[in-house]
Amino acid sequence: MDSRKAVIMVLVLRGAEPHDEPFLWAMLYEASHASKRGLLEPDQLRAVPELSRYLEGWAEAGDLGVVGGDGEELRGAAWVRLLDKANAGYGYVADDIPELAIATIPAARGTGLGTALLTRLLADAATRYPGICLSVDAGNPARHLYERMGFIEVARAGLIDAPGSTSKTMLLRFT
Ligand SMILES: CC(C)(COP(=O)(O)OP(=O)(O)OC[C@H]1O[C@@H](n2cnc3c(N)ncnc32)[C@H](O)[C@@H]1OP(=O)(O)O)[C@@H](O)C(=O)NCCC(=O)NCCS
Repeated sequence: MDSRKAVIMVLVLRGAEPHDEPFLWAMLYEASHASKRGLLEPDQLRAVPELSRYLEGWAEAGDLGVVGGDGEELRGAAWVRLLDKANAGYGYVADDIPELAIATIPAARGTGLGTALLTRLLADAATRYPGICLSVDAGNPARHLYERMGFIEVARAGLIDAPGSTSKTMLLRFT
């Protein structure tokens, strides 16, 4: 008898809830490439206003997110939050356009999870917002994902991360 076992991964997606906040901080750590900023763990993001603004007080009115995994373990998340000009994020475009944050755990990259999360989030967001914006480094392969989903590059209007930054602002309009 063949003793080999087939492993079938079942992808489960659901809306992000208030109790998912600790996982979202872990995903913000990944999305912001915080280890390159010298931050050692997600909790340290809370003391960095330009990053904590994407998550502090999660599940405010207007917050919208999706988490996904194999049903037992969460492996990735995508969410949007409205950040007005006074509190602009890196990808700010306009007060009525929420900004995207997305990441998977390192082991799940390139598996299609990011595409699945973003597809679901865009479908949910299209019923509530005129569009979604984001900021991405020019060298980040995530750009392919955003372009494939219909995001286009627009002029930068948000936070400048560092002198000589190669970050790009991208926008997907639903209307
Ligand atoms: C960006 C991210 C959420 C995409 O999720 P994913 O499950 O890796 O994506 P998919 O497998 O659905 O592939 C989608 C695209 O991601 C890109 N991708 C693949 N492996 C990747 C990796 N290790 N890191 C970043 N992007 C990757 C590919 O270019 C692919 O685009 P293409 O298929 O059109 O060529 C995930 O790779 C990630 O968490 N990256 C690190 C955090 C990050 O950079 N977040 C975005 C900040 S703007």
